Amino acid sequence: MWKNSIDINTVREIRLRNTVFFGVGAIAKIDFIIEELKNRGVENVLVVCGKGSYKSTGAWDHVTAAMAKHGINYELYNKVTPNPTADHVDEAVALGHKNCATAVIAIGGGSPIDVGKSAAILLKNPNNNARDLYNFKFTPTEALPIIAINLTHGTGSEANRFAVVTIPEKKHKPAIAYDCIYPLYSIDDPGLTIGLPLEQTCYVSIDAVNHAIEAATSKAVNVYAITLATQTIDLVDTYLPLAMDDPEDLTARYFLMYAAMLAGVAFDNSLLHYTHALEHPLSAVKPELSHGLGLAMLLPAVIENIYPSCGNVLAHIFAPAIPGFTGDEKETTKFARSVEKWLARMGADRKLGDDGFYETDVNMLTDLVFNTPSLSSLVGLAPTIGDYASIANIYSRSMNRMPDDDEDKESSK
Ligand SMILES: [Fe+2]
Repeated sequence: MWKNSIDINTVREIRLRNTVFFGVGAIAKIDFIIEELKNRGVENVLVVCGKGSYKSTGAWDHVTAAMAKHGINYELYNKVTPNPTADHVDEAVALGHKNCATAVIAIGGGSPIDVGKSAAILLKNPNNNARDLYNFKFTPTEALPIIAINLTHGTGSEANRFAVVTIPEKKHKPAIAYDCIYPLYSIDDPGLTIGLPLEQTCYVSIDAVNHAIEAATSKAVNVYAITLATQTIDLVDTYLPLAMDDPEDLTARYFLMYAAMLAGVAFDNSLLHYTHALEHPLSAVKPELSHGLGLAMLLPAVIENIYPSCGNVLAHIFAPAIPGFTGDEKETTKFARSVEKWLARMGADRKLGDDGFYETDVNMLTDLVFNTPSLSSLVGLAPTIGDYASIANIYSRSMNRMPDDDEDKESSK
């Protein structure tokens, strides 16, 4: 019983901070939001987005109509790519300065929202640049108001105080977390996600699953994060196959978006550990690698590492998807294999060796975990001791699929 592992005498912070307009058609709320900005004295905004989805989803039509109606001027930065860099942030900030922006509207998945959050900090702290921010050379306490219009169902960035940006010359992908970058308002409209390609549909959902798992098993876990994690995995298990079968299934998109939002709140409360700390070097080295796919590649070996320490929580939160486990340490290998098979059923069946990583990369990747600002702190939140050898072992174990029981029997003959 996982509830037995909760220390009722340990006081944990439970964070619930911003307002998310959630549901099909929520994009229409942008009119109210822009009016609210206007009432706060905002005249000029910086809009941050990727290259195309802000238009193809229809979000842009709503945003421009609302800005025109309420007399808001804007500069548009529409060059954010997946795994965005510090240069994207600095370019966006330069445009924001150009029109004296006093609010930021981010439209897209985690990448544009995180660049928008970073720009909102730097526009309020103009003597610093993105590298200063992500090398922790200052601690921001203020940012411009942020509006997040979410176009995917993975990062949860619309519901929390985190942002991630890559410093390309160092192959560092640090994460920041500051109270000043909770969005003022966010929009989660499932209707804006129906054009997500199938691979992205899968990988962003697996990102949400990892947020949930890591939050529920971190040293900073609170009881709320476990509740959120259980619901997240249940929803993804039910609705991801439906969205993969019919990308325009709005009910499936609704509940996947809800799962991602819950998971975003889960890690806002209880943070992250191994899977994210080890994935960031992967997509810093290979920016073309989807964050969610990198997480999926690592998760089974992470489970193998942590199940002996928190099997009761893992068995509980995965019960809707992988029933029949009690959390006993003896189940470790079988549970890790079951998670790998579940990921494959969901559509994420690749391993590091399939995407150009080799055993010879393990030390370089492990070095990055310990050298990248913020990542070793995440490792310190894991429920087991994350020393160099154990991190390297997780990478090694993630190169190839784990053999299943039948293969084990075959190979022992
Ligand atoms: Fe993530």
